[in-house]
Amino acid sequence: MLKNDLLLRAAKGQEVERAPVWLMRQAGRVLPEYRATRARAKNFVEFVKTPELAAEVTIQPVDILGVDAAIIFSDILVIPEAMGLPYQMIEAKGPWFENTVKNKADVDRLKIAEAGDLDYVMQALSLTKKGLDNRVPLIGFAGAPWTLFAYMIEGSGSKTFSKAKQFLYTQPEAAHALLEKITQSTINYLKGQVAAGADLLQLFDSWAGVLSERMYYEFSLRYIAKICDALTPLVPVTVFAKDAHYAVSKIAETSCSSIGLDWTLDPKKARTEAGTKTLQGNADPCLLYASDEKIISETTAMLQAFGKDRYICNLGHGLYPDLDKAKVKLFVDVVKAHQW
Ligand code: CP3
Repeated sequence: MLKNDLLLRAAKGQEVERAPVWLMRQAGRVLPEYRATRARAKNFVEFVKTPELAAEVTIQPVDILGVDAAIIFSDILVIPEAMGLPYQMIEAKGPWFENTVKNKADVDRLKIAEAGDLDYVMQALSLTKKGLDNRVPLIGFAGAPWTLFAYMIEGSGSKTFSKAKQFLYTQPEAAHALLEKITQSTINYLKGQVAAGADLLQLFDSWAGVLSERMYYEFSLRYIAKICDALTPLVPVTVFAKDAHYAVSKIAETSCSSIGLDWTLDPKKARTEAGTKTLQGNADPCLLYASDEKIISETTAMLQAFGKDRYICNLGHGLYPDLDKAKVKLFVDVVKAHQW
């Protein structure tokens, strides 16, 4: 039995004493302890593939920041790799793929990943579970199919993802075939994560915002809905679609448990659009550059706007590496001390 199950109760819409808090990218460069562990691996990809190191950095924010959940240290790009497209993480630049998908023949060559292809992630989850000793829930995750598709076509990050969007407009059938393969791979992968100990899952649709509303429903949300249907009978699922401000009510029609919000969304407006779903978010990570007084007043206002129930406190996107660990800790402390 979990000693602190606030996150799971909030995700399921059950009674809580206070809102749980965790932070996207809490296992990351903002912690000097993370940087020290990372230095023990040859490079980022090897780091992700070493279960002992991955488990160590997953647990660090629970010990150091006092967050109410751990999120497994890995990357969304492990799925493209398991399907046949290896990636590298280039310092100060981000992801890079040597091979990309250009046409239907390339799609046909990719395999549907099985959980066994990602055994290093399963091992990291099992080790983390042991290390956590039931203190807090463990979050598993995957990239949403559209966001993974975007990297597999583009081959790197991009401001516009215009190559990936060109593919949608010019080769829609091949696009759907690839999205379907990614979806099946992701379902296999996430079922494996649950079997290895994940208590809740989050889908990251980081590049939702480059699509038009209609394109979003056709090429992204329908695949997210399939994944939710396959996984919500097992554990709660959170959908985080960054910059898809128009989509909250449509995401609420899927079987997801919670909806992650970026900082551009108004909590009260999102509440009316999300029905009875739990909401997660949505402080601007840049708030944590502000004075302590400002962090306290803005965070308190956000907590009041969301209310205690059906709420998971988080940022509206990941922590930036140059934020001060003490400011991050202050944010967590303010949430935990709030008088509801
Ligand atoms: O949130 C957590 O603490 C868990 C770990 C986690 C990482 N990546 C570790 C990581 C999670 C959930 C991710 C997901 C991820 N990866 C996303 C979706 C979330 C989002 O941020 O929108 C995306 C788009 C990626 C792809 C990716 N991985 C990029 C674009 C980068 C480079 C960005 C950068 O800051 O350099 C990464 C690298 C990465 N993944 C880092 C971490 C901690 C930083 C790498 C390092 O240690 O040098």
